[in-house]
Amino acid sequence: MTIRIAGIGTSLPAKVVTNHDLAQHMDTSDEWIRERSGIGERRVGGITSEMALEAATNAIEKAGVVPADIEFVLLATCTPDQIFPATSTQIARGLGIRCGSMDVNAACAGFAYGYAAAYGMMLSPGGPDRMLVIGADSLSNFVNWTDRGTAILFGDGAGAAVLERHEQGALLGQDFGVAGDLREILYCDHDDTIVMEGREVFKRAVRAVTQSVQNALEQAGLTAADIDVVLPHQANIRIIEAVCTRLAIPMEKTHNVLEHTGNTSAGSIPLAMAAAEEAGALQPGTIVVMTGFGAGMAWGSVVVRW
Ligand code: COA
Repeated sequence: MTIRIAGIGTSLPAKVVTNHDLAQHMDTSDEWIRERSGIGERRVGGITSEMALEAATNAIEKAGVVPADIEFVLLATCTPDQIFPATSTQIARGLGIRCGSMDVNAACAGFAYGYAAAYGMMLSPGGPDRMLVIGADSLSNFVNWTDRGTAILFGDGAGAAVLERHEQGALLGQDFGVAGDLREILYCDHDDTIVMEGREVFKRAVRAVTQSVQNALEQAGLTAADIDVVLPHQANIRIIEAVCTRLAIPMEKTHNVLEHTGNTSAGSIPLAMAAAEEAGALQPGTIVVMTGFGAGMAWGSVVVRW
């Protein structure tokens, strides 16, 4: 018995901030932001628990189950509502269920970590039969809206997946790593805003993601040519292009939402997954790579047979 993703749901806050809006009060332009990042607009004003609950509710409905069928809630986030309790407890509360729950913080790589952790829990003795894995972040609350180096990139959003035991679908390979000595290139202190060395993050991300996908593929006994669908962390389209060039994967195999969402951190892989599903790209047997990177510096990749 293996595990499949039975339903995907998303949530984005209503308020849209376009590049033109940003150019009203900082020295930048729509053209510059699009060319350097691929981002055209982002959603702001989100609250992590609210977006996560909406995405979870949508995923449960898509999976054709009810909240009582969920036996564990795993939320990947680096922007919890409070220091404690874990924000996942409030998702369980909103769903009206009393199963186990936990938060996982691997910053923007969170969904890949959460998926692999959930998969392992479900296959362990007495593990849950059905789990919610959610990626949700509200980084707009931690952006310095006068800093053009970061304000152009981030937005709020959430995506959720219902994982269930099934003969269809399997985790084939995984790779995770952190370089804690790179903390200084991307961090956010309590009650403060995001600090980032953009160029350095860019370089490190391309290297880390390329190597991580290669490692996960090797473990799965596959090569880049076997990949049908790539669901990359949605940070910058040029990072995604650089990784695809290095791995010789055509960009057409990637599914991207960042033009309209910006970097939604842990929300970005499941948001890309929902877009891939909508495009009809996720069929039984499809080989999917989810790969993320972010503050830590942390990275992670999973190779999945849909
Ligand atoms: N608008 C206009 N000009 C800008 C600008 C903006 N928003 N931000 C920076 N610039 C200027 C710089 O001041 C610099 O000017 P100079 O050449 O006169 O010194 C020039 O544009 C180039 O800056 P640089 O930082 O080299 O640009 P870049 O091509 O690296 O793009 C980022 C900047 C931030 C878009 C890019 O580095 C990036 O996306 N990095 C990764 C960040 C990331 O993914 N973070 C999240 C990880 S989870």
